[in-house]
Amino acid sequence: MSMDYIGIDLGTSAVKLLLMAGDGSIRNVVSREYPIFFPHSGWSEQRPEDWWSAVLDGLKALLAGYDGKQVAGISFGGQMHGLVMLDAQDRVIRPAILWNDGRTAEQTAWLNDTVGRETLSACTANIAFAGFTAPKLLWVREREPENFARIAKIMLPKDYIAYQLTGVHSMDYSDASGTLLLDVEHKCWSEKILRLCGVETDWLPTLFESYQVTGTVKSALAAELGLGTGCVVAAGAGDNAAAAVGTGTVGEGRCNVSLGTSGTIFISSRSFRVDRRNALHAFAHADGRYHLMGCMLSAASCNQWWMDSIIGTKDYAAQQAGMEERLGENTTFFLPYLMGERSPHNDPRARGMFIGMSMDTTRRDMTQAIMEGVSFGIRDSFEVAKSLGIHPDGTRICGGGSRSALWRKMIANILDLPVERVASEEGPGLGAAMLAAVACGEYDSVDEAAKAIVRVTETIDPDPELAAKYQGQYLRFQKLYPALKDWF
Ligand code: XUL
Repeated sequence: MSMDYIGIDLGTSAVKLLLMAGDGSIRNVVSREYPIFFPHSGWSEQRPEDWWSAVLDGLKALLAGYDGKQVAGISFGGQMHGLVMLDAQDRVIRPAILWNDGRTAEQTAWLNDTVGRETLSACTANIAFAGFTAPKLLWVREREPENFARIAKIMLPKDYIAYQLTGVHSMDYSDASGTLLLDVEHKCWSEKILRLCGVETDWLPTLFESYQVTGTVKSALAAELGLGTGCVVAAGAGDNAAAAVGTGTVGEGRCNVSLGTSGTIFISSRSFRVDRRNALHAFAHADGRYHLMGCMLSAASCNQWWMDSIIGTKDYAAQQAGMEERLGENTTFFLPYLMGERSPHNDPRARGMFIGMSMDTTRRDMTQAIMEGVSFGIRDSFEVAKSLGIHPDGTRICGGGSRSALWRKMIANILDLPVERVASEEGPGLGAAMLAAVACGEYDSVDEAAKAIVRVTETIDPDPELAAKYQGQYLRFQKLYPALKDWF
């Protein structure tokens, strides 16, 4: 009898839970939101307890009217880098400091300039970025020594959920890559960086491949949820690696663009490689191999901010009406640095900005500038990949922003790459369920699962004339950050 699998995508605005049949068809999806707190400009926090109650509530809704004994396994795609700290009684010490939090400018500079980029890169394959976990540990040590003294365990967001489900303290290699504590190439903790950050080895979880079983759902919890005894939990992955699995971006040289709260460009690789300037992250992949990734801190979230907080509308499509005829001709530009920027600038002090307006600039021009500015930001990381000799022949796309046909067209023409849309937009949730299916033996490998499950439904080819217009626009965009860097 074929079994079913649950993928839990622990995002920044909400958790999405997905129930997948063994053949990859999606039986049900539910989501639950939770608050995010910005206690100071550039800071960003969530309460792990809120994640857990949203997951529990979501699981109950997902399984309502369904025989939970059919679920063989559960896995995760989780927002990366967030620091969760527990004390010796397993209590959450303070709210988690998230991936898009920029408070650690000083600690990041100390790591990059005093410890040194070369040492960091040799030990971990990466340099420090403000959102990574290690600088946050340094920040807590300096600014909240009383909290630092209570640490008994540290983990990443999805691992807190796994811990609640199983009691096993686990972390997978893809997510661990973003801590700056992992020797990514050799897939073990870097003793040297642990020492520098004052991290005790017994605070650390056990490391797993994303598709490995870490434990089973605790029996009382399984009974409460109606799951069978022995329902397996697999380690899961950081949300970008999980999304790559969910879009079939596995193996050599495949590309995926995600337009979510963050914007990422993800390039899978069979072998380990590092961007010599470390502008792209060199991380482990959920398929057991590696990837390079550029990450923008604000992508679809720029549009959401503009629509919800500034214009005050829920009708995003209406704001895009008539835009299609004016692609490539906008004289208004937008710098999407609402939370500072990660790739490629590594500048937590950068901020959002409209530029180039005149008396005839319309709201639509500004909306268009936001979507284009995010796409140009993705192109910035893509340029770094190209400078490393990486030339993918197309890219997959996922995330909330990819639901806009116009945004897909912009990405295709701004990257000058065919963009493939897949049947399910649930990138990380589907990828997570696929990892659970691999862990349970439904598929022999992540590659096999991707081959069997992921289906391309549409290809958007770039139009040479529009791509040429956007090339000119991109060259103008590229000049803005260097000109404004000191001002920030
Ligand atoms: C990746 C990153 C973001 C978060 C978003 O490095 O920080 O994409 O994972 O959830």
